[in-house]
Amino acid sequence: MQKLVIDGGVPLEGKIFLHGAKNSALPILAAALLCDGKTVLENCARLTDVFAACHILAHLGCHCMIQEHMVTVEVKNLRSDSIPEALMQEMRSPVIFLGAVLGRTGSCQISYPGGCELGPRPIDMHLDALRQMGARFTIHGGQLDCVVSEGLCGAKIHLPFPLVGATENVMLAAVLAKRRTVLHNAAREPEICDLAYFLRTCGAKIFGDGEGMIVIDGVEKLQGAAYRIMPNRIAGITYLGAAAITGGTICLRGMDAQPIENVLLVLEQTGCWIYPEPDRLHLLAPRRLRAVPMIQTMSHPGFPTDAQAIFMAMLSAADGVSVFEENIFENRYRHVDAFVKMGVKIHVSGKIAVVTRTRALSGTSITATDLRGGAAMALAGLAAQGRTEIHQISHIDRGYETMETVP
Ligand code: EPU
Repeated sequence: MQKLVIDGGVPLEGKIFLHGAKNSALPILAAALLCDGKTVLENCARLTDVFAACHILAHLGCHCMIQEHMVTVEVKNLRSDSIPEALMQEMRSPVIFLGAVLGRTGSCQISYPGGCELGPRPIDMHLDALRQMGARFTIHGGQLDCVVSEGLCGAKIHLPFPLVGATENVMLAAVLAKRRTVLHNAAREPEICDLAYFLRTCGAKIFGDGEGMIVIDGVEKLQGAAYRIMPNRIAGITYLGAAAITGGTICLRGMDAQPIENVLLVLEQTGCWIYPEPDRLHLLAPRRLRAVPMIQTMSHPGFPTDAQAIFMAMLSAADGVSVFEENIFENRYRHVDAFVKMGVKIHVSGKIAVVTRTRALSGTSITATDLRGGAAMALAGLAAQGRTEIHQISHIDRGYETMETVP
């Protein structure tokens, strides 16, 4: 599919079933590398990043099979500990394989990740944490070589910031390491808990996930298992936003309120009515949304950076002035130009963006800049007068399974 064409102005009504979370599936696919035998992952969304992770697993020597929403990974004889640059570039966060490959083979070679559409992609804190577990790194000609001469060893690690990827890498490196790892200031995102549940199902000893301190006692081996990936909370927020911006009603199936309570509170501030039930959420939107004085992105349980662009689209159509502060990524306001082109007044200064509705959004031709920014443009298109065409929608396809026909 080359572009999305949206004729706006129609309130969205209906039910949507959520597939599994991309940001859970990726570290869990990396974790499958640490398991003996077969791992069967259900509710795995059919997304380009998931396919890319499977290509990496196959290159390393795993037998990997995708059938609809089920991915089977079988580790028999690993034949490589290196991930070629072409495969690294298929995914935005391939560094997640570092901890797992090191844990499984004791060495790993990857190309050093460059920047991406969200800004520079430093991995210094991943490397610092793994160094404390005995890994040694050399960087030459854009290549990162990692070795662990005497096996990974548990350590007391303090992350300077609760980073999602670094927390996952430490968990993956620690489950088969010697002795105990204690990770302070760990990320608390629900996807971290999902990775921990999967690893526990396979025999790992992990405690404290979802809190600030994770304790991992290394075990001799992990056994592959069947596991169902948690629902995609960010896709859920996006579809709630789509109903909200169009003044519609929606029922999200397969999703509890708890992992997105922080976002539901802000949706209520916009005037939406939320009714949670076990395993589903209903949203009824007002005719016109209200502005929100301040939205500050933070690590979980704060407001998620992945929902910032979605809310900016919604609040571009709201009465009043809304202010955003983006605290996680350096370059996560690239969607702003598209909203300005659609008639919104937005002033960006560093981390702050001030959004003021001047008139109704108007449809135009715009280009997706990144995954969530692209999805937010689709929301703006749904609310706009006239036709919106969104180009470069490969960005959107990385995180939303057939957004235009979602069941
Ligand atoms: N950072 C460093 N040093 C490091 C690692 C990260 O300075 O060694 C910085 C990054 O540059 C970034 C910030 O810390 O500015 C957050 O990095 P983090 O490691 O927390 O993020 P991530 O693991 O790269 C995951 C999700 C993102 C989500 C963030 C929320 C996956 C595959 N990606 O990224 O999801 O925004 O956590 O912190 O899980 C998305 O789905 O659209 C997406 C971008």
